[in-house]
Amino acid sequence: MKHIPVILFGAGGVGRALLWQIVVSRPVVAGRNQIVFNVVAVVDSRSWVWAPAGLADDQLLALVAAKAEGQRLGPERPGNVEIVEQAAAAGLEGALVVDVTAEAGMEPLLDRALASGYGVVLANKKPLAGPWSTAQRYYNNPRLRHESTVGGGQPVIATLRYLLDTNDPIFRIEGQMSGTLGYICGRLDEGVPFSQAVAEARANGYTEPDPREDLGGLDVRRKIMILGRMAGWPLEEADITIETLYPPALASLPVEAFMAKIGVMDGPIRERVAAARAAGALLRYTAELEAGVGSVGLKPVSREEPLANLKYISFRTALYNDQPMMIGGKGAGVEMTAAGVLGDMIGLVREG
Ligand SMILES: NC(=O)c1ccc[n+]([C@@H]2O[C@H](COP(=O)([O-])OP(=O)(O)OC[C@H]3O[C@@H](n4cnc5c(N)ncnc54)[C@H](OP(=O)(O)O)[C@@H]3O)[C@@H](O)[C@H]2O)c1
Repeated sequence: MKHIPVILFGAGGVGRALLWQIVVSRPVVAGRNQIVFNVVAVVDSRSWVWAPAGLADDQLLALVAAKAEGQRLGPERPGNVEIVEQAAAAGLEGALVVDVTAEAGMEPLLDRALASGYGVVLANKKPLAGPWSTAQRYYNNPRLRHESTVGGGQPVIATLRYLLDTNDPIFRIEGQMSGTLGYICGRLDEGVPFSQAVAEARANGYTEPDPREDLGGLDVRRKIMILGRMAGWPLEEADITIETLYPPALASLPVEAFMAKIGVMDGPIRERVAAARAAGALLRYTAELEAGVGSVGLKPVSREEPLANLKYISFRTALYNDQPMMIGGKGAGVEMTAAGVLGDMIGLVREG
């Protein structure tokens, strides 16, 4: 049996689902892969809990419950890099550092973890979507995995890796890459005003805390950049145009003021829905990338096309050219995302 220390950064929706899954899947993970995950640290933005011998399952479940109620994890936390240094100083070997935050600036932590011989698992897209000069070291790194950065728990990254490993070059990538925008487009199909669809998505917890993260297309652009970079294009943000679903005047308002004003988009979007419908199409927020040039935005998609009816990501390759490889299903949600992280943790231990 391998006992693997785990240092978890982020105890939001995904982090808590992951802790719960680590606990309930213990018999399966031990039985199938002879692995026991010992969570030695859980860290949020302000506080942390540190237990170099590993937290017991009842402690982990109590942390999940306390965090869900808005309580602190524990005392004030040290800096990111200091936490990994503390783990190394405590003699923890072969640990996994798991980043399920949505933070920028995590690179020094990741670099310190990799330098310590630790594995890294990301649901956080930002380190992979920064300038190529900084991000490229996280690609093709056998000690770093990031399945949940695209498609939640669906094996999008694993499929792309398989295509690349088997020398099948990627010609084109396209898909609906946002559960939030997929939901909003579905509500537009039903005649719901845009502002109402956004408010519903937010109330249901589908959006990021600031819905502009979704509506601005930034999250989708990060995903298509990650896939494109894996496919071999050294993409920068400027290589992918994005359509932002709110006017520049609303960009710097506080979130609640933004929500109060998003109704200004109702008229223009209603017109686009009607124009698409008149042409036998539905509006979909899609991402596409070919020959290193991409776009992200709202497009009319013919009702007959799969993209109008299904949420998937497709890869057109030398072998899958006339009919692309498609991965789809219910991708978003904290449980699926956490399962993708857990799968990466198991994969790193098994193959690392
Ligand atoms: N939700 C989904 O369905 C989904 C799907 C795919 C990918 N993802 C990605 O998964 C990540 C997590 O999503 P989420 O929904 O769990 O977000 P969330 O609920 O907003 O949780 C984020 C967590 O990160 C913590 N945090 C912030 N800065 C930190 C730091 N410097 N060090 C340690 N922790 C820090 C926050 O701390 P506090 O609790 O103190 O605020 C919070 O616990 C994001 O990158 C997201 O894009 C999510």
